[in-house]
Amino acid sequence: MTNIERLYSDRAGKMRKSVIRELLKVAQDPEIISFAGGLPNPDSFPIDTLNDIIETVMRTNGKKALQYGTTKGVPELRDHIAERAQKDGIKDITGENVLIVSGSQQALDTVGKIFLNPGDVAIVGLPTYLGGINAFRSYESNLEGIPLDKDGLRVDLLEEKLNELKKNDITPKFIYVVPTFQNPAGVVMPEKRRKHLVDIANEFDLVIIEDDPYGKLRYDSDHIKPIKAFDDEGRVIYMSTFSKILSPGFRLAWTIASEELTRKMVICKQALDLCTNTFTQFIANEFIRQGALDLHIMKICQMYKPKRDVMIESIQKYFPEGYECNKPHGGMFAWVTLPKGIDTEIMFLDAIKNKVAYVHGKAFHVDGKGERSLRLNFSYSSDERIEEGIKRLGMVIEEKLSAIPV
Ligand SMILES: Cc1ncc(COP(=O)(O)O)c(C=O)c1O
Repeated sequence: MTNIERLYSDRAGKMRKSVIRELLKVAQDPEIISFAGGLPNPDSFPIDTLNDIIETVMRTNGKKALQYGTTKGVPELRDHIAERAQKDGIKDITGENVLIVSGSQQALDTVGKIFLNPGDVAIVGLPTYLGGINAFRSYESNLEGIPLDKDGLRVDLLEEKLNELKKNDITPKFIYVVPTFQNPAGVVMPEKRRKHLVDIANEFDLVIIEDDPYGKLRYDSDHIKPIKAFDDEGRVIYMSTFSKILSPGFRLAWTIASEELTRKMVICKQALDLCTNTFTQFIANEFIRQGALDLHIMKICQMYKPKRDVMIESIQKYFPEGYECNKPHGGMFAWVTLPKGIDTEIMFLDAIKNKVAYVHGKAFHVDGKGERSLRLNFSYSSDERIEEGIKRLGMVIEEKLSAIPV
């Protein structure tokens, strides 16, 4: 038989499977309480409203909604998105600055394709979103990690790193940040630090990739302007998605960038998939036009806030002493760091035996660290299963701790 592997490109050889997607397969077992995926709660999906909207779309726009669309996306949807982004503080934009993509994941891949030659450096957080790491690594880049604190990416350390790289004649291409309810750490970067980050990008002539899927899932904190709001030089590519506020099955997200960068991304996307799903674009557009989106976001927040509370309270009740866990003010994740001596990747096997799943911290670290951390999703499971799952996990941790020699 032919050895197909020998025919693969160097790039394909270096591609790694996503730890999370593999974990999601394990977590399919209905007996396992899964805190692993970043899944919205299926009870949040507005099925009845969408049923009516689909009927309206078919009746009023069926011929367009079932046809190929332009690569950039349905103009009315782009205009709606631009209008909403302006309300959030992003200045001087129109629908021309908006590109509709097939999930933010596609935007991350597009960014990698546009900016990264093999060996190029890009900066990411420690920890950061695994899908970002995988997308950028598939272009054979070197990812440099900058630690986070309770206010997100440490821009002071970023500045140090950039100066150090400069001495070695290395200019990174971009900084990738998830500044609001970060995945996985749940932290928010305050406005002052956002401005500082833009100043640094201006000084070192870098692009900022601002990934914001969770900004609208706010439970007890104020709205904070996106980094893009402070970008006067057109060097921030902002991206957000309908995945967490409507449906991930739609595969619908968007970027907001300068017209120059948007043009480049459009050309890139032409080769990827010609256009984003036209049908779901029309549905999302009608959903916004009817004023249903903000109402729906409010409902999701009302559903997730108590889940966040159940998770945090259960952690406090069932986890043995010595862990650290901040209370996230939004998003979908709690991030826990356990005492020394525990490796959450190894502990995962015991967790699965006890029918509970999470994502281990190393998956989010480009420096091989994070072995004591784990990410727990609180949006997907019922309140009862959250408490039961955390109880099981507490027992697993207790057992692991008692096996550590003193
Ligand atoms: C930070 C971050 N970026 C991007 C994505 C991908 O989102 P999408 O469903 O729009 O591809 C996710 C999904 O969990 C995410 O957490």
